[in-house]
Amino acid sequence: MQVTFCRLRTHQWCFILFNVILFHALLFGADFVEEYFLHSLPHVDMKVLEIKEKARKLNMEPLRSNPSKYYVLSQSDICKGKNIFLLSFIFSSPGNGTRRELIRKTWGNVSSVQGHPILTLFALGMSVTITTQREIDKESHKNNDIIEGIFLDSFENQTLKIITMTQWAVTFCSNALFILKIDEEMFVNMPSLVDYLLNLKEHLENIYVGKVVHQDTPNRDPGSQNFVPLSEYSQKYYPDYCSSEAFVMSQDVAWMIYVVFKEVPIMVPADVFVGICAKIVGLIPIHSSRFSGKRHIRYNRYCYKFIFTSSDTKDAEISLVWMEINGGKECSLFETYYGLISCKLLTYLDSIKHFHMGTIKNNDMYLND
Ligand SMILES: *[C@@H]1O[C@H](CO)[C@@H](O)[C@H](O)[C@H]1NC(C)=O
Ligand SMILES: *[C@@H]1O[C@H](CO)[C@@H](O)[C@H](O)[C@H]1NC(C)=O
Ligand SMILES: *[C@@H]1O[C@H](CO)[C@@H](O)[C@H](O)[C@H]1NC(C)=O
Repeated sequence: MQVTFCRLRTHQWCFILFNVILFHALLFGADFVEEYFLHSLPHVDMKVLEIKEKARKLNMEPLRSNPSKYYVLSQSDICKGKNIFLLSFIFSSPGNGTRRELIRKTWGNVSSVQGHPILTLFALGMSVTITTQREIDKESHKNNDIIEGIFLDSFENQTLKIITMTQWAVTFCSNALFILKIDEEMFVNMPSLVDYLLNLKEHLENIYVGKVVHQDTPNRDPGSQNFVPLSEYSQKYYPDYCSSEAFVMSQDVAWMIYVVFKEVPIMVPADVFVGICAKIVGLIPIHSSRFSGKRHIRYNRYCYKFIFTSSDTKDAEISLVWMEINGGKECSLFETYYGLISCKLLTYLDSIKHFHMGTIKNNDMYLND
């Protein structure tokens, strides 16, 4: 009698254990599999070596002595003589001074992590109105943190913006080890991001990391704003690339991309453009699920201490999150675990909700036709 009872209990335990493992495997398995399979060694051949050599010999002196040819505002001396671990380039729209002010007061105000200096700058194109330009001039004078390229800051010109800012980084900030490209609607947890960069195996070189998009296809709908004609890009799939909201590259990668960018069709989306450049120079993007991509991560203190970014954060949320995670208290192991689980579940729930809303909207459109 007693023996059967014991056996039964063992079975029950096994069942419970199995369920716990299954639960974790379902929740985190995809992340592990993704990170494992999307990680392989960079590809090196003669062409790549040539590009590296070209990048090493690149002479940026003409540009350095004449910044006004490409930039309205260039802050050309801001990196001089400094030790910079991470150059954080926030891609902002000219008319969004309030958002920039908020970022300066919150996550953009982190000037070093574990003794590693961070430089935060805003990347802008030109505005169509003169009033906005005047305001930007004033803002720039006050904060000395705006780089403004000579091109119209529009949806279609985002690729041009990345090229211009990469050029700025290799010309005026070649002493920065890493460059972060980040959009203004994001929240960034600098301490966890820097900690991750410090622990990367490859260390300092050949790094192109973010939320990797795998086997994305070009938009072939001629009516769409993102239309990519076959003449621009003829293959079925794009190479793997890091989603544009946030990605990090090491300085050598910026140089190599700058060397090859003229070979790449400019009409593809900006992040794909960087991905194609990276492929030409033999790089494989490194994936981390701690970059949120386009997803908004529902706020939870423990979870936000772990992730690198969250998209679509409202002004009020940024201030709140900043105050809370900056509050100093560390998380215990259990709290971190709890945070991760709830973070995952809530984000999944949110995406299901979005999906449903999306379908309903589509149906509406269909009915109205
Ligand atoms: C930004 O950080 C500095 C220290 O690095 C601090 O003195 C300053 O008060 C902070 N500014 C804001 C607005 O939090
Ligand atoms: C992109 O910028 C260029 C240079 O300022 C400008 O001539 C062009 O109209 C812009 N393109 C779009 C679609 O805004
Ligand atoms: C400013 O940025 C916020 C956050 O990304 C965005 O919601 C808003 O539309 C932007 N406003 C302008 C004028 O670009």
